[in-house]
Amino acid sequence: MTTQSTGSNSDRVIIFDTTLRDGEQSPGATMTFEEKLEVADLLDALGVDVIEAGFPIASEGDFEAVSAIAKRVKRASVCGLARAAFKDIDRAGEALKSAVRPRIHTFISTSPLHMKYKLQKDPEEVFQLVSAQVSRARNWVDDVEWSAEDGTRTEMDFLCRCVEAAIKAGATTINIPDTVGYTTPEEYEYIFRTVRERVPNSDKAIFSVHCHNDLGLAVANTLAGLKGGARQIECTINGIGERAGNAALEEVVMALRTRADVLPYTNNIETSMLTRASKLVSAVTSFPVQYNKAIVGRNAFAHESGIHQDGMLKNAQTYEIMTPESVGVSKTSLVMGKHSGRNAFRSKLKEMGYELGENALEDAFKRFKDLADKKKIVYDEDIEALVDDEIGHAGERITVEALTVIAGTMGPQTATLTLDIDGNHVTKQATGNGPVDAIFNAIHALVPHSATLELYQVHAVTEGTDAQAEVSIRLTEEGKSVTAKGADPDTLVASARAYIAALNKLMVKRLKTKPEAMTGTAS
Ligand code: KIV
Ligand code: ZN
Repeated sequence: MTTQSTGSNSDRVIIFDTTLRDGEQSPGATMTFEEKLEVADLLDALGVDVIEAGFPIASEGDFEAVSAIAKRVKRASVCGLARAAFKDIDRAGEALKSAVRPRIHTFISTSPLHMKYKLQKDPEEVFQLVSAQVSRARNWVDDVEWSAEDGTRTEMDFLCRCVEAAIKAGATTINIPDTVGYTTPEEYEYIFRTVRERVPNSDKAIFSVHCHNDLGLAVANTLAGLKGGARQIECTINGIGERAGNAALEEVVMALRTRADVLPYTNNIETSMLTRASKLVSAVTSFPVQYNKAIVGRNAFAHESGIHQDGMLKNAQTYEIMTPESVGVSKTSLVMGKHSGRNAFRSKLKEMGYELGENALEDAFKRFKDLADKKKIVYDEDIEALVDDEIGHAGERITVEALTVIAGTMGPQTATLTLDIDGNHVTKQATGNGPVDAIFNAIHALVPHSATLELYQVHAVTEGTDAQAEVSIRLTEEGKSVTAKGADPDTLVASARAYIAALNKLMVKRLKTKPEAMTGTAS
């Protein structure tokens, strides 16, 4: 499919996914190189039209990830972000060299507030930069997107002048982002309608919406933008993104599908993969999906009250406006226990939407067997936690090898921890104010670091005292934060796994910003 010149009257909407760029920018959502490739592959299979793979100038890591994604993705366009600086644009062009369908997305702030305080430039300087940045990008690729950052707080005359100049210089997509999540549906529709009417060459470009969710209006604003004539939607899986996030891809797409009667726009998304995409992004970012989240939350298709259950049994449409199957939630049939073999386990994973490589499958199967020995009933949620844990921790430099904890009223609580750091086993005993503190002190001694623990949260994956524990941890270092999860039937082991997972992520983040800081471990 082509991403150009479908014209604003066509009903085909381009789905531009920015999970790997705006999503990855959200505090704590760092993904490793391998995780980014995995997400990119899934987005391509899901049918998104454009994958915004990163911000190549931001770091060596971002550049490498965008280049690798450009090389492997064959169907979707692959896009790299660049500010209005030639070095940014050239870096994006370099990263996209091997893409089948490369796109450079270049932006500059156009609102009075951003121009004055952020850019410290007057409007005429900004106006000159618009043509210059687009022309520079067109030297690299034919498909150039230009964004008016803080577009919804930009004066209309200036916005129209800039849009006209960008199109004249060769921009094929014009994005008017609601950068700070400030607009309302009526206002956003009006902005697109007005710009399209007033800019003489507006028919030469596709207009795009990009909505942040600060007021919880991102999806509503996105749909309103379509009414105003936009035909590209920028969104992310699970709605992750700066601050309160971006419009959630799964919500926008299911709104379009379920209410096609009033939203007559088509797209290419295979909706039965939405749940799988949500789970993958949640696992690699360690951002939990809120239970009542639309479309992909655990309760999105659950009915507990008697009245609702009764209605559902008579006719599912009484309380369901879309089928669980349409978003990839299937009624699972295989019950798993300690007698289940490898093949049944593999089929179960497939049924749940996971496809693991042989090594990951083998590791997950071993952990499943251990769990089934300890637990009477292994629920789907248990398998989900275990596999997410396995995916999330694949390829980590530091892993938990062994942990023994002495706890109870007699104190001091003591933890003896063995870690594998780059293939070397190291052991430390430490005491603490409680068993978790003792474990974290042992980790500190083995992996010295200056990060502070900002969040420690435990939740039980299922009911019962034998339920698996899932621990979430957020660490912050020099203003950068990472979040990670660990799962295990033993809460203390889950805590150690989560802390170590967060440290692994932090090392990746350090490498992205300061390559020389990669060696922060004491082995
Ligand atoms: O929110 C925003 O304005 C952005 C731009 C870079 C498009 O993410
Ligand atoms: Zn954004």
